[in-house]
Amino acid sequence: MQMQPKVGIESISVHVPRYFVDLKTLAAANDVDPGKYYHGLGVRRMAVVAPDEDPVTMAVEAARALIERNKLDGGRIGLLVVGTESGVDGAKPIAAYVHGLVGLSGECRTFDAKHACYSGTAALRMAADWCAVHGTQHRNKALVIATDIARYDEGSAGEPTQGAGAVAMLVGDEPHVLDLDLRNEAVFSREVMDFWRPNYRSSAMVDGKTSISSYLSALKNTYLTHRAASGFGWDDYEYLLFHVPFPKMAYKAFRVLCGLERNDNADDQFDLRSGPALWANRELGNIYSGSLYLSLAGLLEKGGRKVEGARIGLFSYGSGCCAEFFTGRLGTDSKNWADKIGIGAGLDRRTELTYEQYLAFRKNGNALACDGSYTGDPQGAAFGRLRKVFYCGIRDHRRMYFVNDNVAQVARNSGIETRSRRSSVAV
Ligand code: CAA
Repeated sequence: MQMQPKVGIESISVHVPRYFVDLKTLAAANDVDPGKYYHGLGVRRMAVVAPDEDPVTMAVEAARALIERNKLDGGRIGLLVVGTESGVDGAKPIAAYVHGLVGLSGECRTFDAKHACYSGTAALRMAADWCAVHGTQHRNKALVIATDIARYDEGSAGEPTQGAGAVAMLVGDEPHVLDLDLRNEAVFSREVMDFWRPNYRSSAMVDGKTSISSYLSALKNTYLTHRAASGFGWDDYEYLLFHVPFPKMAYKAFRVLCGLERNDNADDQFDLRSGPALWANRELGNIYSGSLYLSLAGLLEKGGRKVEGARIGLFSYGSGCCAEFFTGRLGTDSKNWADKIGIGAGLDRRTELTYEQYLAFRKNGNALACDGSYTGDPQGAAFGRLRKVFYCGIRDHRRMYFVNDNVAQVARNSGIETRSRRSSVAV
Protein backbone atom coordinates (compact mmCIF):
# COMPACT_ATOMS: atom_id res chain seq x y z
CA MET A 1 0.00 0.00 0.00
CA GLN A 2 1.23 3.51 -0.84
CA MET A 3 2.28 5.60 2.19
CA GLN A 4 0.01 8.55 2.91
CA PRO A 5 1.98 11.84 2.87
CA LYS A 6 1.95 13.60 6.23
CA VAL A 7 -0.29 16.64 5.84
CA GLY A 8 -2.43 18.71 8.16
CA ILE A 9 -2.71 21.87 10.23
CA GLU A 10 0.65 23.29 11.25
CA SER A 11 -0.70 26.25 13.17
CA ILE A 12 -4.06 27.84 14.00
CA SER A 13 -5.08 31.33 15.07
CA VAL A 14 -8.45 32.88 15.95
CA HIS A 15 -9.63 36.47 15.54
CA VAL A 16 -12.15 37.46 18.22
CA PRO A 17 -14.23 40.57 17.37
CA ARG A 18 -13.92 43.32 19.98
CA TYR A 19 -17.58 43.60 20.96
CA PHE A 20 -20.19 41.25 22.33
CA VAL A 21 -23.76 41.11 23.58
CA ASP A 22 -24.64 38.97 26.57
CA LEU A 23 -27.52 36.66 25.69
CA LYS A 24 -29.32 37.75 28.87
CA THR A 25 -29.45 41.24 27.39
CA LEU A 26 -30.88 39.90 24.14
CA ALA A 27 -33.37 37.70 26.00
CA ALA A 28 -34.65 40.71 27.93
CA ALA A 29 -35.06 42.72 24.73
CA ASN A 30 -36.86 39.84 23.01
CA ASP A 31 -39.01 39.11 26.09
CA VAL A 32 -37.71 35.54 26.28
CA ASP A 33 -36.69 33.57 29.39
CA PRO A 34 -32.85 33.81 29.43
CA GLY A 35 -32.77 30.10 30.33
CA LYS A 36 -33.82 29.34 26.77
CA TYR A 37 -30.69 30.99 25.33
CA TYR A 38 -28.27 30.02 28.13
CA HIS A 39 -29.39 26.43 28.63
CA GLY A 40 -31.81 25.61 25.80
CA LEU A 41 -29.29 26.71 23.15
CA GLY A 42 -26.16 26.72 25.32
CA VAL A 43 -24.90 30.17 24.30
CA ARG A 44 -23.63 32.82 26.72
CA ARG A 45 -22.45 35.73 24.59
CA MET A 46 -22.38 36.52 20.90
CA ALA A 47 -19.59 38.36 19.15
CA VAL A 48 -20.66 41.49 17.30
CA VAL A 49 -18.65 43.23 14.61
CA ALA A 50 -18.14 46.97 14.71
CA PRO A 51 -19.36 48.85 11.63
CA ASP A 52 -15.77 49.17 10.40
CA GLU A 53 -15.15 45.41 10.60
CA ASP A 54 -16.19 42.96 7.90
CA PRO A 55 -15.29 39.41 6.77
CA VAL A 56 -12.20 40.80 5.01
CA THR A 57 -10.81 42.63 8.04
CA MET A 58 -11.47 39.63 10.31
CA ALA A 59 -9.68 37.31 7.88
CA VAL A 60 -6.71 39.69 7.68
CA GLU A 61 -6.49 40.01 11.47
CA ALA A 62 -6.52 36.19 11.88
CA ALA A 63 -3.94 35.68 9.12
CA ARG A 64 -1.59 38.40 10.35
CA ALA A 65 -1.73 37.02 13.90
CA LEU A 66 -0.92 33.54 12.56
CA ILE A 67 2.04 34.85 10.58
CA GLU A 68 3.39 37.03 13.39
CA ARG A 69 2.97 34.52 16.24
CA ASN A 70 4.75 31.83 14.24
CA LYS A 71 7.30 34.13 12.56
CA LEU A 72 6.24 32.59 9.26
CA ASP A 73 7.94 33.26 5.97
CA GLY A 74 4.94 34.35 3.84
CA GLY A 75 6.94 33.50 0.73
CA ARG A 76 6.38 29.80 1.47
CA ILE A 77 2.62 30.17 0.99
CA GLY A 78 1.57 29.04 -2.49
CA LEU A 79 -2.16 28.71 -1.88
CA LEU A 80 -4.69 30.93 -0.11
CA VAL A 81 -8.25 29.66 0.22
CA VAL A 82 -10.88 31.59 2.15
CA GLY A 83 -13.90 29.57 3.25
CA THR A 84 -16.84 31.93 3.70
CA GLU A 85 -20.55 32.39 3.20
CA SER A 86 -20.32 36.14 3.84
CA GLY A 87 -19.03 37.16 0.40
CA VAL A 88 -18.72 40.94 0.00
CA ASP A 89 -18.80 40.91 -3.80
CA GLY A 90 -20.41 38.77 -6.47
CA ALA A 91 -17.15 38.34 -8.37
CA LYS A 92 -14.13 39.43 -6.35
CA PRO A 93 -13.23 36.90 -3.66
CA ILE A 94 -12.38 37.86 -0.09
CA ALA A 95 -9.13 35.98 -0.74
CA ALA A 96 -8.06 38.68 -3.23
CA TYR A 97 -8.38 41.44 -0.61
CA VAL A 98 -6.66 39.28 2.01
CA HIS A 99 -3.82 38.45 -0.36
CA GLY A 100 -3.10 42.16 -0.81
CA LEU A 101 -3.65 43.31 2.76
CA VAL A 102 -1.51 40.53 4.22
CA GLY A 103 1.13 40.96 1.51
CA LEU A 104 1.52 37.44 0.16
CA SER A 105 3.67 36.44 -2.78
CA GLY A 106 2.39 36.91 -6.34
CA GLU A 107 3.04 33.20 -6.91
CA CYS A 108 0.06 32.22 -4.81
CA ARG A 109 -3.23 30.75 -6.03
CA THR A 110 -6.09 32.65 -4.33
CA PHE A 111 -9.81 31.96 -4.26
CA ASP A 112 -12.85 31.58 -2.01
CA ALA A 113 -14.69 28.33 -1.31
CA LYS A 114 -18.40 28.46 -0.55
CA HIS A 115 -20.87 25.95 0.76
CA ALA A 116 -22.47 27.57 3.83
CA CYS A 117 -20.76 26.38 7.04
CA TYR A 118 -19.01 23.58 5.16
CA SER A 119 -16.92 26.30 3.42
CA GLY A 120 -14.07 26.10 5.97
CA THR A 121 -13.81 22.34 5.60
CA ALA A 122 -14.01 22.56 1.81
CA ALA A 123 -11.06 24.98 1.95
CA LEU A 124 -9.08 22.85 4.41
CA ARG A 125 -9.55 19.56 2.55
CA MET A 126 -8.70 21.16 -0.77
CA ALA A 127 -5.59 22.75 0.73
CA ALA A 128 -4.52 19.43 2.30
CA ASP A 129 -4.81 17.66 -1.06
CA TRP A 130 -2.81 20.48 -2.68
CA CYS A 131 -0.11 20.19 -0.01
CA ALA A 132 0.10 16.42 -0.51
CA VAL A 133 1.00 17.08 -4.15
CA HIS A 134 3.36 20.03 -3.55
CA GLY A 135 5.14 18.40 -0.61
CA THR A 136 8.76 18.85 -1.63
CA GLN A 137 8.59 22.27 -3.26
CA HIS A 138 9.71 25.50 -1.57
CA ARG A 139 6.30 27.16 -1.81
CA ASN A 140 4.42 24.21 -0.29
CA LYS A 141 2.33 25.81 2.47
CA ALA A 142 -1.34 26.74 2.21
CA LEU A 143 -3.14 29.43 4.17
CA VAL A 144 -6.77 28.56 4.90
CA ILE A 145 -9.05 31.13 6.50
CA ALA A 146 -12.65 30.65 7.59
CA THR A 147 -14.34 34.03 8.13
CA ASP A 148 -18.00 34.82 8.66
CA ILE A 149 -20.59 37.04 10.26
CA ALA A 150 -23.71 35.11 11.29
CA ARG A 151 -26.68 37.46 11.12
CA TYR A 152 -30.44 36.80 11.35
CA ASP A 153 -33.38 39.18 11.50
CA GLU A 154 -33.91 41.13 14.71
CA GLY A 155 -36.26 39.31 17.07
CA SER A 156 -36.13 36.07 15.03
CA ALA A 157 -35.53 32.59 16.50
CA GLY A 158 -32.10 32.58 14.87
CA GLU A 159 -30.95 35.89 16.43
CA PRO A 160 -29.53 34.32 19.64
CA THR A 161 -27.38 32.04 17.46
CA GLN A 162 -25.58 34.94 15.77
CA GLY A 163 -21.83 35.44 16.05
CA ALA A 164 -18.73 36.48 14.14
CA GLY A 165 -15.07 35.58 13.89
CA ALA A 166 -12.30 34.18 11.75
CA VAL A 167 -9.96 31.22 12.07
CA ALA A 168 -6.69 31.08 10.11
CA MET A 169 -4.84 27.80 9.60
CA LEU A 170 -1.48 27.09 8.07
CA VAL A 171 -1.62 23.77 6.24
CA GLY A 172 1.45 21.82 5.24
CA ASP A 173 3.66 18.77 5.64
CA GLU A 174 4.60 19.47 9.30
CA PRO A 175 1.19 19.02 10.97
CA HIS A 176 2.17 20.03 14.52
CA VAL A 177 -1.45 20.80 15.39
CA LEU A 178 -3.57 18.24 13.51
CA ASP A 179 -2.26 15.39 11.36
CA LEU A 180 -5.15 14.72 8.97
CA ASP A 181 -6.15 11.28 7.80
CA LEU A 182 -6.50 11.94 4.06
CA ARG A 183 -7.30 8.36 3.09
CA ASN A 184 -10.69 8.16 4.72
CA GLU A 185 -13.33 10.69 3.83
CA ALA A 186 -17.05 10.33 4.29
CA VAL A 187 -19.04 13.02 2.54
CA PHE A 188 -22.75 13.53 2.01
CA SER A 189 -24.59 16.03 -0.21
CA ARG A 190 -28.26 16.59 -0.82
CA GLU A 191 -30.08 19.70 -2.04
CA VAL A 192 -32.19 21.02 0.81
CA MET A 193 -33.72 24.43 1.61
CA ASP A 194 -32.84 24.60 5.30
CA PHE A 195 -30.78 27.81 5.50
CA TRP A 196 -29.86 30.33 2.82
CA ARG A 197 -29.16 34.03 2.22
CA PRO A 198 -30.52 35.54 -0.99
CA ASN A 199 -28.12 38.01 -2.63
CA TYR A 200 -30.41 40.93 -1.80
CA ARG A 201 -30.36 40.24 1.96
CA SER A 202 -27.70 40.89 4.61
CA SER A 203 -29.25 38.40 7.05
CA ALA A 204 -29.91 34.71 6.55
CA MET A 205 -33.23 32.90 6.10
CA VAL A 206 -33.69 29.62 7.90
CA ASP A 207 -36.15 26.80 8.40
CA GLY A 208 -34.81 25.96 11.85
CA LYS A 209 -36.36 22.54 12.42
CA THR A 210 -35.50 21.34 8.89
CA SER A 211 -31.93 22.55 9.41
CA ILE A 212 -31.58 20.51 12.60
CA SER A 213 -32.97 17.31 11.07
CA SER A 214 -30.87 17.75 7.92
CA TYR A 215 -27.74 18.25 10.07
CA LEU A 216 -28.47 15.12 12.10
CA SER A 217 -29.28 12.88 9.15
CA ALA A 218 -26.07 14.01 7.39
CA LEU A 219 -24.18 13.19 10.61
CA LYS A 220 -25.60 9.66 10.77
CA ASN A 221 -24.87 9.08 7.11
CA THR A 222 -21.24 10.27 7.18
CA TYR A 223 -20.39 8.70 10.53
CA LEU A 224 -21.60 5.26 9.43
CA THR A 225 -19.88 5.55 6.05
CA HIS A 226 -16.64 6.59 7.74
CA ARG A 227 -16.87 3.81 10.31
CA ALA A 228 -17.40 1.16 7.64
CA ALA A 229 -14.60 2.44 5.38
CA SER A 230 -11.93 3.39 7.92
CA GLY A 231 -12.33 0.76 10.61
CA PHE A 232 -12.24 3.54 13.25
CA GLY A 233 -14.88 2.97 15.89
CA TRP A 234 -16.36 4.80 18.87
CA ASP A 235 -13.52 3.98 21.25
CA ASP A 236 -10.84 5.23 18.88
CA TYR A 237 -11.84 8.88 19.32
CA GLU A 238 -10.72 10.65 22.46
CA TYR A 239 -12.61 13.75 21.33
CA LEU A 240 -15.52 14.30 18.96
CA LEU A 241 -15.93 17.78 17.52
CA PHE A 242 -18.93 19.08 15.56
CA HIS A 243 -20.06 22.05 13.58
CA VAL A 244 -21.52 24.28 16.32
CA PRO A 245 -24.35 26.58 15.20
CA PHE A 246 -25.11 26.71 18.96
CA PRO A 247 -23.51 24.48 21.62
CA LYS A 248 -26.68 22.47 22.33
CA MET A 249 -26.49 21.25 18.72
CA ALA A 250 -23.20 19.50 19.52
CA TYR A 251 -24.99 17.75 22.38
CA LYS A 252 -27.82 16.68 20.06
CA ALA A 253 -25.21 15.39 17.61
CA PHE A 254 -23.33 13.50 20.31
CA ARG A 255 -26.55 11.82 21.47
CA VAL A 256 -27.27 10.67 17.92
CA LEU A 257 -23.86 9.02 17.75
CA CYS A 258 -24.44 7.40 21.16
CA GLY A 259 -27.69 6.00 19.75
CA LEU A 260 -25.88 4.56 16.73
CA GLU A 261 -23.25 3.03 19.00
CA ARG A 262 -25.82 1.78 21.54
CA ASN A 263 -24.06 3.76 24.25
CA ASP A 264 -26.41 4.74 27.05
CA ASN A 265 -23.99 6.94 28.97
CA ALA A 266 -24.36 9.99 26.72
CA ASP A 267 -24.18 12.79 29.29
CA ASP A 268 -20.98 11.67 31.03
CA GLN A 269 -19.35 10.80 27.73
CA PHE A 270 -20.32 14.15 26.27
CA ASP A 271 -18.72 16.03 29.17
CA LEU A 272 -15.47 14.15 28.58
CA ARG A 273 -15.31 13.94 24.82
CA SER A 274 -17.05 17.03 23.38
CA GLY A 275 -17.78 19.43 26.24
CA PRO A 276 -14.15 20.62 26.62
CA ALA A 277 -14.18 21.94 23.05
CA LEU A 278 -17.23 24.20 23.37
CA TRP A 279 -16.20 27.03 25.70
CA ALA A 280 -15.13 29.40 22.93
CA ASN A 281 -18.28 28.70 20.87
CA ARG A 282 -20.33 29.73 23.90
CA GLU A 283 -18.50 33.09 23.90
CA LEU A 284 -18.47 33.92 20.17
CA GLY A 285 -21.67 32.26 18.94
CA ASN A 286 -21.97 30.75 15.49
CA ILE A 287 -19.09 31.75 13.24
CA TYR A 288 -20.44 29.58 10.41
CA SER A 289 -17.50 28.27 8.33
CA GLY A 290 -15.05 28.59 11.23
CA SER A 291 -17.25 27.15 13.94
CA LEU A 292 -15.85 23.59 13.88
CA TYR A 293 -12.31 25.02 13.87
CA LEU A 294 -13.14 27.37 16.74
CA SER A 295 -13.99 24.21 18.69
CA LEU A 296 -10.69 22.65 17.69
CA ALA A 297 -8.83 25.82 18.70
CA GLY A 298 -10.73 25.92 22.00
CA LEU A 299 -9.87 22.30 22.75
CA LEU A 300 -6.18 22.98 22.08
CA GLU A 301 -5.98 26.30 23.94
CA LYS A 302 -7.56 25.02 27.17
CA GLY A 303 -6.46 21.39 26.81
CA GLY A 304 -2.73 22.07 26.49
CA ARG A 305 -0.67 18.98 27.30
CA LYS A 306 -3.72 16.93 28.23
CA VAL A 307 -4.85 16.69 24.60
CA GLU A 308 -1.43 15.97 23.08
CA GLY A 309 -1.54 13.07 20.61
CA ALA A 310 -5.30 12.52 20.90
CA ARG A 311 -7.23 11.07 17.98
CA ILE A 312 -10.25 13.24 17.18
CA GLY A 313 -13.29 12.82 14.98
CA LEU A 314 -14.65 15.92 13.25
CA PHE A 315 -18.07 16.53 11.72
CA SER A 316 -18.62 19.45 9.39
CA TYR A 317 -22.07 20.49 8.15
CA GLY A 318 -23.02 23.17 5.66
CA SER A 319 -26.67 23.89 4.98
CA GLY A 320 -27.85 23.38 1.49
CA CYS A 321 -26.32 20.77 2.16
CA CYS A 322 -22.85 19.19 2.22
CA ALA A 323 -21.36 17.37 5.19
CA GLU A 324 -18.22 15.43 6.02
CA PHE A 325 -16.93 13.24 8.82
CA PHE A 326 -13.16 12.96 9.02
CA THR A 327 -10.43 12.29 11.52
CA GLY A 328 -6.94 13.25 12.54
CA ARG A 329 -4.44 13.11 15.38
CA LEU A 330 -3.51 16.15 17.48
CA GLY A 331 0.16 17.09 17.69
CA THR A 332 2.32 15.53 20.36
CA ASP A 333 3.86 18.77 21.68
CA SER A 334 1.53 21.48 22.97
CA LYS A 335 4.38 24.03 22.75
CA ASN A 336 3.45 24.19 19.06
CA TRP A 337 0.13 25.83 19.86
CA ALA A 338 0.58 27.32 23.35
CA ASP A 339 0.22 31.15 23.21
CA LYS A 340 -0.38 31.06 19.46
CA ILE A 341 -4.15 30.74 19.18
CA GLY A 342 -5.35 33.94 20.82
CA ILE A 343 -8.90 33.15 21.97
CA GLY A 344 -8.42 33.94 25.68
CA ALA A 345 -6.46 37.11 24.91
CA GLY A 346 -9.13 38.19 22.40
CA LEU A 347 -11.92 37.61 24.92
CA ASP A 348 -10.05 39.63 27.56
CA ARG A 349 -10.00 42.67 25.25
CA ARG A 350 -13.72 42.64 24.50
CA THR A 351 -16.24 45.33 25.34
CA GLU A 352 -19.86 44.60 26.16
CA LEU A 353 -22.59 46.36 24.19
CA THR A 354 -26.02 47.41 25.39
CA TYR A 355 -28.96 46.29 23.28
CA GLU A 356 -29.26 49.82 21.83
CA GLN A 357 -25.55 49.86 20.88
CA TYR A 358 -25.93 46.46 19.22
CA LEU A 359 -28.83 47.77 17.11
CA ALA A 360 -26.79 50.86 16.20
CA PHE A 361 -23.85 48.67 15.11
CA ARG A 362 -26.16 46.64 12.86
CA LYS A 363 -27.64 49.78 11.35
CA ASN A 364 -24.28 51.51 10.81
CA GLY A 365 -22.77 48.33 9.38
CA ASN A 366 -25.58 48.04 6.84
CA ALA A 367 -25.20 51.71 5.92
CA LEU A 368 -21.47 51.22 5.28
CA ALA A 369 -22.29 48.42 2.82
CA CYS A 370 -23.97 50.97 0.50
CA ASP A 371 -22.33 52.65 -2.42
CA GLY A 372 -21.16 56.17 -1.61
CA SER A 373 -20.95 55.54 2.14
CA TYR A 374 -17.22 56.31 2.19
CA THR A 375 -16.62 59.84 3.43
CA GLY A 376 -12.85 59.88 3.88
CA ASP A 377 -13.19 59.99 7.65
CA PRO A 378 -15.95 57.51 8.39
CA GLN A 379 -17.53 57.55 11.79
CA GLY A 380 -17.14 53.78 11.81
CA ALA A 381 -13.35 54.04 12.01
CA ALA A 382 -13.76 55.29 15.56
CA PHE A 383 -14.74 51.78 16.60
CA GLY A 384 -11.50 50.23 15.42
CA ARG A 385 -9.14 50.92 18.29
CA LEU A 386 -6.02 48.76 18.31
CA ARG A 387 -6.97 46.83 15.21
CA LYS A 388 -4.82 46.81 12.12
CA VAL A 389 -7.28 47.03 9.29
CA PHE A 390 -10.57 48.88 8.97
CA TYR A 391 -13.41 48.74 6.49
CA CYS A 392 -14.52 52.27 5.63
CA GLY A 393 -17.42 51.98 3.21
CA ILE A 394 -17.75 52.11 -0.53
CA ARG A 395 -16.57 54.77 -3.00
CA ASP A 396 -17.25 54.47 -6.73
CA HIS A 397 -18.46 50.88 -6.16
CA ARG A 398 -15.09 49.96 -4.58
CA ARG A 399 -14.65 48.75 -1.03
CA MET A 400 -12.28 50.99 0.93
CA TYR A 401 -9.95 49.81 3.68
CA PHE A 402 -7.73 51.78 6.06
CA VAL A 403 -4.63 50.00 7.28
CA ASN A 404 -2.36 50.90 10.16
CA ASP A 405 1.05 52.26 9.23
CA ASN A 406 2.95 49.05 9.72
CA VAL A 407 0.89 47.28 7.10
CA ALA A 408 0.28 50.27 4.82
CA GLN A 409 3.33 49.61 2.71
CA VAL A 410 2.21 46.08 2.01
CA ALA A 411 -1.22 47.30 0.94
CA ARG A 412 0.23 50.04 -1.27
CA ASN A 413 2.42 47.52 -3.00
CA SER A 414 -0.57 45.31 -3.65
CA GLY A 415 -2.45 48.13 -5.41
CA ILE A 416 -5.44 47.91 -3.07
CA GLU A 417 -6.94 51.34 -2.42
CA THR A 418 -6.21 52.13 1.19
CA ARG A 419 -5.18 54.99 3.42
CA SER A 420 -3.00 54.54 6.44
CA ARG A 421 -3.85 56.10 9.76
CA ARG A 422 -1.94 56.47 12.98
CA SER A 423 -4.58 56.96 15.58
CA SER A 424 -8.19 56.26 16.18
CA VAL A 425 -10.84 57.93 18.26
CA ALA A 426 -11.99 56.19 21.43
CA VAL A 427 -15.53 54.78 21.47
N1 CAA B 1 -35.09 27.13 29.82
C1 CAA B 1 -34.31 26.14 29.32
N2 CAA B 1 -34.52 25.62 28.08
C2 CAA B 1 -35.51 26.13 27.31
C3 CAA B 1 -36.35 27.16 27.79
C4 CAA B 1 -36.11 27.66 29.11
N3 CAA B 1 -36.85 28.65 29.62
N4 CAA B 1 -37.23 27.45 26.82
C5 CAA B 1 -36.96 26.64 25.78
N5 CAA B 1 -35.92 25.84 26.08
C6 CAA B 1 -35.26 24.83 25.23
C7 CAA B 1 -36.23 24.02 24.38
O1 CAA B 1 -36.80 22.95 25.11
C8 CAA B 1 -35.30 23.56 23.28
O2 CAA B 1 -34.52 22.49 23.73
P1 CAA B 1 -34.38 21.16 22.85
O3 CAA B 1 -33.78 21.59 21.54
O4 CAA B 1 -33.47 20.29 23.64
O5 CAA B 1 -35.76 20.62 22.67
C9 CAA B 1 -34.35 24.74 23.11
O6 CAA B 1 -34.48 25.56 24.28
C10 CAA B 1 -34.67 25.62 21.91
O7 CAA B 1 -36.02 25.94 21.96
P2 CAA B 1 -36.92 25.93 20.64
O8 CAA B 1 -36.69 24.66 19.89
O9 CAA B 1 -38.30 26.28 21.00
O10 CAA B 1 -36.20 27.15 19.88
P3 CAA B 1 -36.64 27.91 18.59
O11 CAA B 1 -37.50 27.06 17.72
O12 CAA B 1 -37.17 29.24 18.98
O13 CAA B 1 -35.23 28.17 17.90
C11 CAA B 1 -33.56 27.21 16.44
C12 CAA B 1 -34.21 27.20 17.83
C13 CAA B 1 -34.56 26.63 15.44
C14 CAA B 1 -32.31 26.37 16.49
C15 CAA B 1 -33.25 28.68 16.07
O14 CAA B 1 -32.33 29.21 16.99
C16 CAA B 1 -32.66 28.80 14.66
O15 CAA B 1 -33.38 28.87 13.68
N6 CAA B 1 -31.30 28.90 14.58
C17 CAA B 1 -30.61 29.05 13.30
C18 CAA B 1 -30.54 27.75 12.52
C19 CAA B 1 -29.59 26.75 13.12
O16 CAA B 1 -28.71 27.08 13.87
N7 CAA B 1 -29.78 25.48 12.76
C20 CAA B 1 -28.89 24.43 13.22
C21 CAA B 1 -28.65 23.36 12.18
S1 CAA B 1 -28.20 24.09 10.61
C22 CAA B 1 -26.55 24.46 10.75
O17 CAA B 1 -25.90 23.96 11.60
C23 CAA B 1 -25.98 25.45 9.77
C24 CAA B 1 -25.82 26.77 10.46
O18 CAA B 1 -24.78 27.01 11.06
C25 CAA B 1 -26.89 27.74 10.41
